[in-house]
Amino acid sequence: PEGITVQELANRMAEKGADLVKALFKMGMPVTVNQTIDQDTAELLVEEFGHRIQRVSDADVEIDTGADVDADETLKPRAPVVTIMGHVDHGKTSLLDALRGTDVVAGEAGGITQHIGAYQIKAKGGEIITFLDTPGHEAFTEMRARGANVTDIVVLVVAANDGLMPQTIEAINHTKAAGVPMIVAINKIDLDTANPQRVRERLLEHEVMVEEMGGEVQDVEVSALKKIGLDTLIEKILLQAELLELKANPDRTAEGRVIEAQLDKGRGAVATILVGRGTLKVGDIFVVGEQSGKVRAMVNDKGQNIKEAGPSMPVEVLGLSGVPMAGDQLSVVENEARAREVAAYRAEQATKKRTTSAPTSFEHMFSALN
Ligand code: GTP
Ligand code: MG
Repeated sequence: PEGITVQELANRMAEKGADLVKALFKMGMPVTVNQTIDQDTAELLVEEFGHRIQRVSDADVEIDTGADVDADETLKPRAPVVTIMGHVDHGKTSLLDALRGTDVVAGEAGGITQHIGAYQIKAKGGEIITFLDTPGHEAFTEMRARGANVTDIVVLVVAANDGLMPQTIEAINHTKAAGVPMIVAINKIDLDTANPQRVRERLLEHEVMVEEMGGEVQDVEVSALKKIGLDTLIEKILLQAELLELKANPDRTAEGRVIEAQLDKGRGAVATILVGRGTLKVGDIFVVGEQSGKVRAMVNDKGQNIKEAGPSMPVEVLGLSGVPMAGDQLSVVENEARAREVAAYRAEQATKKRTTSAPTSFEHMFSALN
């Protein structure tokens, strides 16, 4: 990691490689786009082209981490990623089951969600929505702490009989901290003891003013059990998504985030990846956190084998060298040697970080940004 190739630097700056070569020639350095230049020269070039140098963490410097920006004309609409949050037993999984027409709750040990489920549903108008079902809020917070803000919209589920509970308030705070728009789903309105108005009032105490109270936060009364209000919830999600104008470039090498990962008997290390941009394909070589691999197979949320997964799609990926951590970034790279090299480098850096508290070395800390 002593330097960077001219082409890679050009990519990071969204400039033409040939233009960099020209500039280098003027600086008295005849090189080709495939040649590596040292850090000082790279920094000079970055400044020469009017870009600023952005220092990023050690582990991120080796590959493209999203510092580069896809050109506007490459962007296409993508499905919103919606995270369902709320207090234990308020009906998060039931709501998702109702929306999907499935019965995940029945298959869960003690009815408690142990892992993040990631699913897609198709609305009546054909729109796709990606849902993440969180078991607790640690996963959400943990991922955010690691810079993985994968959620576009939060649906806060509050049971109308129980009202606001500690984890409801926690979820509100996490959502606010993440700056993500929220929709409140007041669930279990089929119960005699349901008091949705009380929920709305209590939300005010936490600075959540729903539409019914004259505010801007969308709210909807639902019953996952009796399938009430589900279409309205979907409509509100789509309305919110429209305002966000979510887009991604599907035609590039894929990047994604680990939603969850585990060692599976028979299948080896398996990770659920939410594709952020690009299209992940069977056969792609990738680095994910400190692990690397080659996509051996991909399985969608319906258990079907698929060959490709585009932006906002959650997919189980097989073919990893080991189990990555939730929030780790997956990046497709050009070849296996490169994948192993980057993974080994990341592992080494992580070990260093764990064993010393030395400041990160400057040398590995730059990338160019427009
Ligand atoms: P955790 O995953 O443990 O956090 O729970 P959860 O929020 O996913 O709740 P879950 O969907 O497992 O539902 C908890 C209980 O509430 C189950 O017994 C559901 O049958 C029940 N429940 C969920 N939605 C409704 C509803 O709309 N009405 C009624 N009456 N019961 C509901
Ligand atoms: Mg659940």
